[in-house]
Parts: sequence; structure tokens; C-alpha cells
Amino acid sequence: MDWLSIEKRHDSGVYAKSDFVIVRGEGAYVWDAEGNRYLDLINGIGVGFLGHRHPAVVEAIKKQAETLAVLPQVFASDRRAEFYKTLVETLPEPLTRVFPTNSGTEAVEAALKFARAATGKKKFVAAMRSFHGRSFGSLSITWEKKYREPFKPLVEPVEFIPYNDVEALEKAVDGETAAVILEPVQGEGGVRPATPEFLQAAREVTREKGALLVLDEIQTGLGRTGRMYAFEHYGVVPDILTLAKPLGGGFPLGSMVTTDEIADRMPKGAHGSTFGGNPLAMAAGTAAVRAVWEGRLWERAERLGAVFMEALRAIESKKVREVRGLGLMVGVELKEKAAPYLKRLAEEHKILTIQAGPNVMRFLPPVVVTEEELLGAARAVAEVLNEGGRKWDVGGKKKTTRFPQPTSHIPHPTSHTLKGAS
Ligand SMILES: Cc1ncc(COP(=O)(O)O)c(C=O)c1O
Repeated sequence: MDWLSIEKRHDSGVYAKSDFVIVRGEGAYVWDAEGNRYLDLINGIGVGFLGHRHPAVVEAIKKQAETLAVLPQVFASDRRAEFYKTLVETLPEPLTRVFPTNSGTEAVEAALKFARAATGKKKFVAAMRSFHGRSFGSLSITWEKKYREPFKPLVEPVEFIPYNDVEALEKAVDGETAAVILEPVQGEGGVRPATPEFLQAAREVTREKGALLVLDEIQTGLGRTGRMYAFEHYGVVPDILTLAKPLGGGFPLGSMVTTDEIADRMPKGAHGSTFGGNPLAMAAGTAAVRAVWEGRLWERAERLGAVFMEALRAIESKKVREVRGLGLMVGVELKEKAAPYLKRLAEEHKILTIQAGPNVMRFLPPVVVTEEELLGAARAVAEVLNEGGRKWDVGGKKKTTRFPQPTSHIPHPTSHTLKGAS
């Protein structure tokens, strides 16, 4: 069957497509219909922090599918209670109340609505280069013009300030501001970490002005950046936290998490979701959160991310402007478009990843990847960037001396994290 032609013929067309069809995945790898194996360093655009088909998540979904798959939130559920308890145990006080969703954009929508209901104010302050989703509310606080322009009018008022500009932030937050919403590391906007001063100022100014601080950790949360939550790097606890991507271990699941005080100000029945909090998603989410939490997988992410970034920084190429990131969230900013190099990584080296903005090669490797695989990927990046120059031996024996070599054996986390996850 020519799946590629069929998909292209009937697809809405909003995405550019690969010209191969992926049919299977396991751990850090996926396979195409022709049996080619790819190292998947984007893993569902950050969904697969645990890699494909984590055994504890697969087991939890199977077991729950045979027990109860559907239950609206008006009926209490053992699986939902278990998910809430598991998630809240990983979070600092006062983040104790959860609104479960089916995607990231819905978690952001909930954050905006809870913020308005709780403060009685209308204005949102967001950052330039932000990305918070594509529904009307989340799109309204997303910076990129191309995503916004065709759909105006959007939710107003929204003021965008330059990311990491403390002065602009302090000026923008006023008595009318319901919330400031920020990503601790901008993902789609080019893998840009916040400065500590910026997030700390956001915490202080929102408190002073009676506004809320929303941190969007849909891409950064649950181990990715080398901490369970990226806000831990900054010593800042938000009033509202949004999570999604890795939260369901591959199953579609998001959540907005907030405080008693804020949740209690949302009128009953003023918000909801038919599928939100269904037992299948809750079982998957509990298994995924436990796998990260009990396996302390952020520690592995921090170590592997440091090795990968060091290797990428060792690449000598005039095309590279900067290598930056936090943990296993890594960007290589080029002085030119990234797309041709990503295509060559896929075609010649069987390594999958995508861009973040036109010039940034973005890597969101799963935590089950090995040091050797990351060093091999760095060599492949060097090779595609240095076409016609020095030959790099990707994953082979004749390793170049300029790349750091694996220093320690990092055990595969899967067997450990299986314990306790149901
Ligand atoms: C920081 C952030 N917020 C929100 C979203 C939207 O999530 P979803 O695509 O699940 O709706 C994304 C997706 O890339 C994201 O990275």
C-alpha cells in the first residue's frame, strides 16, 4: 500500500511531510515502512522523553483498556485520583489542584481562563518568540506572526515583551494584568533559556501587581531540562503550571496545575472537557510520571545533555552561530537555514529531528538514548555542516579526538523505572 500518497492526498495539508512513512518505534528508535531504522532525536516533538513504548506505560494502557476506558469528570475515578496524587507529589506547595486536558494548547486555554476568573482582570503579558499553542486563546499569546495573522481578531489585550528583558517586563505588568505567561526555556522560539533574573523578576512583579505567574512547561517539564521541572533551576514557583507532551508517556495528555486559592475562584461548570481525565490517559500519565520521578530521570537528562552539548560545541564550522540549551533540550543555531541539514541528517545518517524557527536545529532526545548515540549524532551534525571538509566517522571505531569520548556507563533506565509503575 502506498501510505505516503494516501496520506498526502487526504491530509489537511497544514504540515510539510517527510517522504518516508514511520511504522514502528522502540526506545530511541523508529523504523520506516522499508525497514530503515532511525535514531529519533525529536521523539514526538518532546512527547517521548521516556522513548517509544516505555514498558510501564504500555502495560498501564493495556490493563486500563481492559478495565474502563471512558468516564467523564462528573464521576469520580480511582485512576484520576491516583494520577492527581502522583503528579501533585512531584510538585511544590501550593500547586495542588489539577485540570486534566488532552493536549498542551488546552492546558494553556485553561490557564488563561482560570487566570481571568481568579483575578477578574483581562490583560496577558507574554514574550516575543513565545509559543503556547494554536487555539484562539493560546494563539493570542503566541508571538509568531505567521501563526497569528490569518486568524485575527484574537483574544485581547496581550502585550508582548522581549524575552529576558527585565525592564520591559516590569513596565508591562500593571494593575490590569491577569497573568504573565512564560516558557522557562523557549522551545519553538529557538531553544532559548530564560535568565534567572528574568524569571525571578516575573515572580516578584506579578506578586506586587496582583497578577498571576503562569509557567508553560509543556516542553520543559518532567525531567527534560535536568530538573523535574525547569522552574527548579530558577527557584521560582508559578501560580499556574501547564504540562503536556511527555506527561502521558506517549498517550495524549496535558494538565493545568494551580493552587487552592485560584481553583476555588473558578465557578463550577465554567470550564470542562469531555475526554479530559479519562481513565486511559490517567493510567498512562500515572505510569509516565512515576517512571520519571522514581527513576530520577532528570539526573540522567542533565548528564547526557552536558555530554551532547559539549560535543556539539566542539564542532568547528563557520555555519554555527551558537549551541545552547538545558539538559536534553538542545538547539544549534546556524547562520543559515537549518532545513537542508536536517534533511541530510535524516537521509544520510538516519537521524530524525526538526527545526525551531528557520535557523535552529532542535534536539529533544529521549532519556533512554546513550552517550555513544549522542556522540554519534554530534559527529553526524559535524559531517552535514562540513560537507566537503574533514570526514567524520559517525559511530565508527576511528573516532575523532576532538569530540569528548564516553566517560561513564549510564545504565538504561527502563528496568529500574518499571518498578512501582502500574
Ligand atoms: C511551550 C509549549 N506550549 C504549548 C504547546 C502546544 O501544545 P500542543 O501542541 O500539545 O497543543 C507547545 C507545543 O509545541 C509548546 O511547546
